[in-house]
Amino acid sequence: MSNKMKTAVLVSGGGTNLQALIDSIDRGDVQSAEIVCVIANKENAYALERARKAGIPAKAITADFEAGALAFMQECGAELVVLAGFLSIIGKGILSAYKNRIINIHPSLIPSFCGKGYYGLHVHEKVLEYGVKLTGATVHFVSEEVDGGVIIAQKAVEVRHDDTPDVLQKRVMEEAEWVILPRAVELVASGRVQIQGRMAVITE
Ligand code: GRF
Repeated sequence: MSNKMKTAVLVSGGGTNLQALIDSIDRGDVQSAEIVCVIANKENAYALERARKAGIPAKAITADFEAGALAFMQECGAELVVLAGFLSIIGKGILSAYKNRIINIHPSLIPSFCGKGYYGLHVHEKVLEYGVKLTGATVHFVSEEVDGGVIIAQKAVEVRHDDTPDVLQKRVMEEAEWVILPRAVELVASGRVQIQGRMAVITE
């Protein structure tokens, strides 16, 4: 009987964050969680292919996503939900069923460059437009407020003057997202994150 936290991963696109989590579990860096299902809100999400190659039950749900996803997650016994490149807003049904047990990876240092309209490449375009010298990624608990939940982990990445949005996105993914998402999953799944007000207290 596995005492690992059963984890559902919700995706929309390429699934590189999912892949980072799969690889971290395979390497033994993440020992307290196992991925029990992957759910995409788009038929052609390559993340589904990554799940299937890893032998993880995976499906696309494109109509009535919330009810379908909730049913599949409960069928798989999911206890933790990870949004990994998931580009849709989580509804009240899933939020209440998984209160304080949904985490999301966002490609900036929240509270900068987040909220409505800030997703994928748009984030990095705005970062370059503004001219900040540091950006990065954030893993946070998901709440009713878009990108407003308690922060679990962050990692900074330098912005270079000759960066393009694509080059910057790749650096943020490689140096930040793919590092802090698996770490945050391990911390939450191993019970080392306590929420105190707006602060997540991490016991190392
Ligand atoms: C990444 O920039 C991620 O931060 C954002 O969606 C993009 C693609 O993620 N949420 P993935 O490759 O599908 O994991």
